[in-house]
Amino acid sequence: MKNIIVAFFTLLVLALMAWTASGGRAYHGGEHAKVIEDFGDTMTNAASTTKPEEKSDREKENEALGALRDKAGNAGAFKVSQEYKSKCASCHGVNGSGEQNGKKLMGPKLFGQSSEAIYKNLVDFKDGRKENMIMKGLLIQLNEDDLKRFSDEIGEFPDRAKEIQENN
Ligand code: HEC
Repeated sequence: MKNIIVAFFTLLVLALMAWTASGGRAYHGGEHAKVIEDFGDTMTNAASTTKPEEKSDREKENEALGALRDKAGNAGAFKVSQEYKSKCASCHGVNGSGEQNGKKLMGPKLFGQSSEAIYKNLVDFKDGRKENMIMKGLLIQLNEDDLKRFSDEIGEFPDRAKEIQENN
């Protein structure tokens, strides 16, 4: 599925490049060389240096690239522990988003919840104050320290994601 999407956007980008070239506007140097130079940039500085007509080409390219980048990012945007991956990710997503490749998983989104909120929910499941067969069954094998560790890790997800973004 992922390969199909990647292939689709690759074709889209190639088609856009071909279309630009056939319009005879691609290799005039100067301004256009600049367009190629900051091909990977976001659209921010494009508006001031290019004409509106060219900007829309760029926007399309950037959209395609953005989609590609999102796809690549979803696969493993930030690092999570092996134990999260093996015990939680199957239902809550590798990054706690509650989805995988755009499909909803069984568990809700955890990303963005504070470690305190996560911990409270986990303890409530374990103690039976909150009813859920799946989570209860899972938590039987985990002690307080485990719950704390998972909570702390999940609470950190937004910061980890932000770090990745800043480094890109
Ligand atoms: C087999 C699937 C499955 C696995 C594996 C799983 N969960 Fe869940 N989890 C669920 C479901 C389903 C719910 C929703 C329960 C409800 O709200 O009734 C849930 C709810 C939660 C909640 C409450 C979230 C909220 O917003 O209400 C937390 C926190 C949570 N899980 C953490 C974890 C952690 C940590 C792990 C790994 C140790 C884990 N889960 C593994 C299925 C799973």
